[in-house]
Amino acid sequence: MCGIAGYIGHKDADQVLVVALERLKYRGYDSAGIAVIDNREIHLRRGVGKLKALSDLLERSPAPGTCGIAHTRWATHGAPTEANCHPHLSGDERIAVVHNGIIENHEELRRRLQAQGCVFRSETDTEVIPHLIAQYYNASPVRDPLAAIRQAVAGLEGSFAIAVMFADHPGRIIAARLGSPLLVGRGRRSPGAHSDRIAKADDRRRTDGGTPVDQRELMVASDVPALLPHASEVCFLADGQIADLGPHGVRLFTLDGKPEEARFKAIEVTADAVSKGSYDTFMAKEIAEQPSVLARLVDSRLNGGRLVDPDLGLDLAKVNHIVFLACGTSWHAALLGKRFLEHLARVHVEVDISSEYRYRNPVASGGTLVVSISQSGETADTLAGLRLARAKFIPVVSLVNVVTSTIARESNGVMPLLAGPEIGVASTKAYTAQVLALLLFAAQVARAKGLLDATAEAALVAACRALPEQAAATLAGAEDAVIEAADLFAAAQATVFLGRGGEHPTALEGALKLKEIAYVHAVGYPAGEFKHGPIALVSSHLPVICMCPKDALYEKMLSNLQEVRARAGRVIAVGEQGDRHLPELADLVFPVAKAGDDLLQPILSVLPLQRYAYHVARRRDCDVDQPRNLAKSVTVE
Ligand code: F6R
Repeated sequence: MCGIAGYIGHKDADQVLVVALERLKYRGYDSAGIAVIDNREIHLRRGVGKLKALSDLLERSPAPGTCGIAHTRWATHGAPTEANCHPHLSGDERIAVVHNGIIENHEELRRRLQAQGCVFRSETDTEVIPHLIAQYYNASPVRDPLAAIRQAVAGLEGSFAIAVMFADHPGRIIAARLGSPLLVGRGRRSPGAHSDRIAKADDRRRTDGGTPVDQRELMVASDVPALLPHASEVCFLADGQIADLGPHGVRLFTLDGKPEEARFKAIEVTADAVSKGSYDTFMAKEIAEQPSVLARLVDSRLNGGRLVDPDLGLDLAKVNHIVFLACGTSWHAALLGKRFLEHLARVHVEVDISSEYRYRNPVASGGTLVVSISQSGETADTLAGLRLARAKFIPVVSLVNVVTSTIARESNGVMPLLAGPEIGVASTKAYTAQVLALLLFAAQVARAKGLLDATAEAALVAACRALPEQAAATLAGAEDAVIEAADLFAAAQATVFLGRGGEHPTALEGALKLKEIAYVHAVGYPAGEFKHGPIALVSSHLPVICMCPKDALYEKMLSNLQEVRARAGRVIAVGEQGDRHLPELADLVFPVAKAGDDLLQPILSVLPLQRYAYHVARRRDCDVDQPRNLAKSVTVE
């Protein structure tokens, strides 16, 4: 989805903002642009395609100035052309706007503005915003930018995060948020900031409620990484807030103008955590990080060898119905969550795709709990599902990786994934962390209901503790076979993944990874269902990846594998390291360590599938970190 950045300080804004956009690329984009104020003029630079087009343009034609706004666009209304790139300007080119979200009533607003003489230069929904702001701004004798923005956003329907600059007000950016994430960053106080003059100004402003003058660099952005390294503190705007950044510091207001306190907290993410380090891609780095992510999560939940239950603010013993809400990969994790809860806690569980749940009229009883699962914590459909549940007085707990996200803030309780920033568009480390966190959650519910005795708990703890090492061994042990398979099958036009029980979600996840980063048509099936139609696809050109852990369904999986072989399909088996049958039955075997508990096996089985998708994508020359058409954080419907 679109990314927003803005900067006010003493450095060249175009340089700062290109780096910020670089850090927002993971959200998905197809064009980028920047506007900088200099000498009371707005200088606009925009480029279609990769960010390099914009940075090359800025090299040829720098945009001078120390205050600017910038944007990566993920096209919704209008193709990725230069005219549709943000920032968009008012007719007199005195106001520049960047926007993330969708203005649902843009057609009606556009017609009205056109009837009043506005000339539109793009097909975007966004362009109505600078025209509207300009109308209010120019119509008022005091020409107050804040008032004009408040009036303009009052007429917008849909979701937005915007940042606005006025040529008449250099050194000032006004940002507003309704539905799409936006945050304000503040740099360290500069050593010279405490001169007597500034201290006096500080005191004066303290008394009239403003943020002190302190010469700090100020930023706005859609996500924390874009603030680094200039900002050391962050303030997350709540829905319906406006932030006014300028020489006065940061002032916050509600959309109807009531002043609010700006609460900043230290940024904990380092610039290193959001860089590739020695890896060629974020995806490779994040796949490799999984053993340490799993170890961190396990450590956070153990004390003296016993499971520690986080306080979720509700009595889990009374929960008798759980509804999972999630999208994409997080939905696959939810399918495993259902298995864990049914097995360990004997609770009735439904797994809902957020975009379906939010448009139904779901039934809730007194004992219902909604659990939303989201890496980003900003997915619009999951957030809407959460809000629907809360409107029905259903408590919501969330599993999120970004604990400062909107979903985390609006939930009754939060289970953090502790996976660290996930930048690659395809979710990898967040998925395995979600699955492990769901197992720990199921154990917590089971314990609350008196269904997890000390022996069972000790066995589960031992299995969890062994997991990081098993994950490392699996990643190392399967790599040669994965590379061989990618060499053999990278040109295949389709791939099928089959799994049973806990490996059915693994099959779905393996197919999604291959589809999204390698653009290979791929589907995952419950293996028992394959013969009810899809088996007609099998030919000598079709790789079929069969998940064959040695669990209660192993024999059944072997029968499915034989059925594929009998029809000349090409079989890759994913099975236990040392399994003697699989090499005889399959073209290739991805060996996987055996988890201490069958429930945990899918965490290990998915690892070679992530690497397979990565290697196939590289052979097909695909950009694995930013696959076409995709966005990391899906903040529109
Ligand atoms: C696939 C992928 C997506 C996300 C989905 C939900 O690799 O990353 O399918 O899982 O967009 O995102 P979150 O978990 O942020 O709500």
